Amino acid sequence: MKILAINSSIRKHGNTERIFHLMEQSLLKIAKEKGKTVELEYISLGETNIEPCRGCRFCFEKGEEFCPIKDNLTLIRRKLQEADGIILGSPIYVEDVNGPMKNLIDRMAFYCHRPSFSGKSALIFTTSGAGSTKHALRTMRNALSTWGFYIAVEYRFRMGGSVIAELDVIQKYSDKVNKLATVFFNSIDNNKPLHPTIYSYMIFKIQQTYWQKESSKRNKLDYEYWKTKGWLEPFCDYYIDHKCLSIKSKTARVLGKIISKFFV
Ligand SMILES: Cc1cc2nc3c(=O)[nH]c(=O)nc-3n(C[C@H](O)[C@H](O)[C@H](O)COP(=O)(O)O)c2cc1C
Repeated sequence: MKILAINSSIRKHGNTERIFHLMEQSLLKIAKEKGKTVELEYISLGETNIEPCRGCRFCFEKGEEFCPIKDNLTLIRRKLQEADGIILGSPIYVEDVNGPMKNLIDRMAFYCHRPSFSGKSALIFTTSGAGSTKHALRTMRNALSTWGFYIAVEYRFRMGGSVIAELDVIQKYSDKVNKLATVFFNSIDNNKPLHPTIYSYMIFKIQQTYWQKESSKRNKLDYEYWKTKGWLEPFCDYYIDHKCLSIKSKTARVLGKIISKFFV
């Protein structure tokens, strides 16, 4: 399986990178035990040229290929499409993800309108100095969920302000990382995205209600995208064919409709 690991920390050999390395070792071990292979590719946002979004809305209104910025985002998008699963790791800066992570999320905002990653699993984590709130995880979870990802695991690592020695990280977090990596690995191996959570269903329902209400004249591109995919059909309840207890999808359908009344 192919996994793309995106580290948004700019500090080289920092705490976030330490957790990524531990995660990689765990994944390789799990794969070996199961007689499978894992190919893990890193992207360090500190070393990747991703300019800030200019707010021109060309991606929303004309298509992402009309983005006036020509940088490494195209490469990252291609790698995301090729991966079976992704790991996003960010240090906490002032109670949220750091700038490079938010910048990446903003540049890919058009995926919130045109989800493209259904069927893929994600693991998200943060590293913080003190005990941070869940705000940063929510930032990443909300973005990835609306892009279609299945969030298999999320975790907040409390590391301290200084970089922790590699041996200490291993001692403190080996077991935890191993558990998270196992859930993530199995989610890809067992095709867990075919068993959406109530939360994923609701996200779909809320998006669907929005696009069903939209006239085809405004936001034509997004509307056509949803229509072509068959996602606007009343019986359609998720991006992909899936296996799920109908009680779960029915509950999500009702909850999604109620939430849509307030936000859509
Ligand atoms: C500008 C800045 C802001 C930070 N804000 C917070 C914060 O709000 N809460 C917290 O617990 N840690 C905060 N930290 C600490 C980092 O989140 C923590 O040390 C993290 O593990 C750093 O990861 P890195 O070494 O991969 O960059 C901050 C660090 C910096 C440099």
